[in-house]
Amino acid sequence: MLRTHTCGELSEQQCGQSVTLCGWVDSYRDHGGGLFVDLRDRYGVTQVVFNPPDTPVDAIEASKGLRSEFVIKAVGNVAERPEGMANPKLATGAIEVRVTEFQILNKSLVPPVVPNGQELPGEDLRLKHRYLDLRRPAMQRIMMLRARMIKTMRDHCTQQGFVDIETPVLGRSTPEGARDYLVPSRVNQGTFYALPQSPQLYKQILMVAGFDRYMQVARCFRDEDLRADRQPEFTQLDLEMSFVDSDDVIGVIDGLVARLAKEELGLDVPTPLPRMTYDEAMERFGHDAPDLRFGLEIIECTDLAAKSDFGVFKNVAKSGGRVRAINVKNGLSQYSRRGIDALTEFVKEFGAKGLAWFRAEEDGKLGGSIAKFFSEELLAEFGGRMAAEPGDLILFSADQFAATCRVLHALRTKIAREMKLTKPGEMHFSWVEEFPMFDFDEDEQRWQAMHHPFTAPLERDLAHLEDDPGKCRAQAYDLVINGSEAGGGTIRIHDAEIQQKVFSLLGIDEATAKERFGFLLDALQYGAPPHGGIALGIDRWVMLFGELENIRDCIAFPKTQKATDLMTEAPGTVDAKQLKELGVKIDA
Ligand code: AMO
Ligand code: AMP
Repeated sequence: MLRTHTCGELSEQQCGQSVTLCGWVDSYRDHGGGLFVDLRDRYGVTQVVFNPPDTPVDAIEASKGLRSEFVIKAVGNVAERPEGMANPKLATGAIEVRVTEFQILNKSLVPPVVPNGQELPGEDLRLKHRYLDLRRPAMQRIMMLRARMIKTMRDHCTQQGFVDIETPVLGRSTPEGARDYLVPSRVNQGTFYALPQSPQLYKQILMVAGFDRYMQVARCFRDEDLRADRQPEFTQLDLEMSFVDSDDVIGVIDGLVARLAKEELGLDVPTPLPRMTYDEAMERFGHDAPDLRFGLEIIECTDLAAKSDFGVFKNVAKSGGRVRAINVKNGLSQYSRRGIDALTEFVKEFGAKGLAWFRAEEDGKLGGSIAKFFSEELLAEFGGRMAAEPGDLILFSADQFAATCRVLHALRTKIAREMKLTKPGEMHFSWVEEFPMFDFDEDEQRWQAMHHPFTAPLERDLAHLEDDPGKCRAQAYDLVINGSEAGGGTIRIHDAEIQQKVFSLLGIDEATAKERFGFLLDALQYGAPPHGGIALGIDRWVMLFGELENIRDCIAFPKTQKATDLMTEAPGTVDAKQLKELGVKIDA
């Protein structure tokens, strides 16, 4: 090694020893007589001092050429810092290294992203010079958190008998519902591989192959619209198990949650984790991945609304819609009339026609501009239903059920943020299960699989496949962390007849099914065990454990919102010769 120690490990114990450190010039200060450099590597920062008498005159002279991010090797004596100069904030803050000789191993241009900078430059610059951005201690901490979490996931699964098996990246289109990334074949011109949206079909086939428990840290590719928690290329902890039901799969993940929360956050998370059904989640929170760190639960008010003279409420109740409300405790302290107007504008972005509200007055009675349409008695009933106390603000959404869900979920999330209803470091883990099998696509007037077409219906809902597909619920479960979908899975269909019914409901005819997933359907006919599994979004887990706002901050080399890599400038153009070999013509 070029060094005897790292920049993070020296303390009083080594005082008097001669050591050799290597690292980057994090900062330098010229104090007339000599130079103080903070030398940085992955392990920490150590102060190295170029000062007489330890440092020879020519070395002091040479040290004046040091600049930010130069890479140096410094030999020197470890010494206690002078009286009053210790820095208790720094692990190595009690000592300094008094340089006896040094060497510049490499120079650096003036860095456009300064690793020790307080002010971060724009994200584009950080992504373009990702090597500088990744030198920042905050990024290094996240990358190490990520590595530890993945190791714990692997340990947890292998200790429970899961076999780590790699599946192809060049394969056939898989049915996760996003657009595929395609790779043209040179050898078989005119044909394409699809990059996997997940290893879904392979892992089911591994169950047919008798592996019983499969795991993989798998890269998935989905060409979809990107958001703060979505990347076109992301990583799953992918699992599949044979001879299991939902509880077994959930049990494996409960154990992993408890272990990771303890190891990484020092939290004791009681298991089994709480569970609720999809229907309950939609009724109480308006969303299938509810944030349970705060209340703001939705309260059903349609029956009361129907009794009022308020046109909006009466009409909605009459037309089979729903009137639902949230009670923002002490909301009047946060939202004045103007604040409520701003919330009204906000909900309109989510398709609301307005935002009716009540305020709870000093005497506990409900008031506000719409109160005149309600009898005293009815107001008191609303107050009781909403558990209103002076200072509370009650907000209504009156519309068809799905629309009220959309609006009230958006409101809950916004108000929780604005009223700071979550505490830093707080984590909430829970399951949502019994999702509907199908979702009706109004535009295309047809059923779609809510998860994927291999998901098994609940035993007791099998009849609904025939009489009312919308009522048919699935053996499906999602893990929710702080209002984010952190994982999802299902028990699979292993019965050819049921699979056939599901395909026909989805409008996938026999020929198409054979063409797209014939290999899976074949496999299922050769003694497929009952099986099911789950995939966890590792990037999202790291984001949540690291308290990051953006998924890009937990991926070493992420893509921008436009799916580009600013450092390598991918995607890029290719030679005409390459295209010709592939038999591909550009039409753009
Ligand atoms: P699903 O499509 O729900 O299930 O994906 C599982 C989990 O992966 C994460 N995730 C993403 N993370 C970042 N960027 C994305 N674009 C992205 N898309 C999904 C989410 C999600 O919960 N094969 C099934 C699993 C199964 O049935 O076993 C699947 O992929 O956290
Ligand atoms: P209007 O009758 O349109 O003047 O609306 C009276 C109040 O009801 C206003 O505060 C509107 O914002 C609100 N409002 C209108 N439509 C709805 C709706 N569908 N859901 C909830 N509030 C509404």
